[in-house]
Amino acid sequence: MEVIILNTPKEVEQMGGQLLAQQIQKKPASVLGLATGATMHGVYAYLSEQHLDFARIKTFNLDEYYGLGPQHRCSYHTYMRHHLFEKVNIQPENAHVPDGLTPDVEAHCREYENAIEQAGGIDLQLLGLGEDGHIGFNEPSSSLSAGMRIKTLTPMTRRTNQRDFPPGETMPMHVLTLGVGNIMAARRCLLLAHGAKKAPAVQAMVEGPITAMCPASALQQHRSTTVIVDEAAAAFLQLADYFRCVYKHKPEWQK
Ligand code: F6R
Repeated sequence: MEVIILNTPKEVEQMGGQLLAQQIQKKPASVLGLATGATMHGVYAYLSEQHLDFARIKTFNLDEYYGLGPQHRCSYHTYMRHHLFEKVNIQPENAHVPDGLTPDVEAHCREYENAIEQAGGIDLQLLGLGEDGHIGFNEPSSSLSAGMRIKTLTPMTRRTNQRDFPPGETMPMHVLTLGVGNIMAARRCLLLAHGAKKAPAVQAMVEGPITAMCPASALQQHRSTTVIVDEAAAAFLQLADYFRCVYKHKPEWQK
């Protein structure tokens, strides 16, 4: 696991955007795994300003609220249209987000996984990090080898994400999410986190034991994961100086 510590949230989001842009330039028919959430706002803003060619890019989002349709203003379909899909030349049929209104969850999850496989698998999986250590919406106690399924959000995640729902509107309790097993199958993972609230989860993910109590800790076993955090989110890392040193002295060929 490569850990890069930058000064500000903006730098984290920009570097995330740059790495995605590099992936698109290197492989114009890349399959990207995408995430939503506040951390990704700057990433997508950066990406949509780069005039990249998305004509052959395929994307698969990690998750969607169960019970929300694609047109619901708080759905992740809407989030993705607003932040990225309407701003780039992606083909609508190549931009996949789980269907929160599916009448058959099990069949939909298997179809979504099959579509990822048919596309050739995820080249680069973008991830945010929950304060409780979730990736996708794999909450603590999630199986570290699970596939896509329906999950119940923890009270902590529901409290945090309530900010995306207008007053009076209750957010769903369930989500459809790719599992940690799906995430681990991606060829490369890129996890971004910033802010002091993420510091305990960042420490547990990077330096703690691999445990279902912090699903993101499974990434310690992923063969190619880059974690980019700001100073506030890195505050509890015992090896922070080492990570800074590694990054500073990264050989030119590796950059
Ligand atoms: C959303 C997702 C979640 C978020 C995480 C962090 O698609 O996969 O794991 O990445 O909850 O969200 P923010 O960025 O809002 O702190």
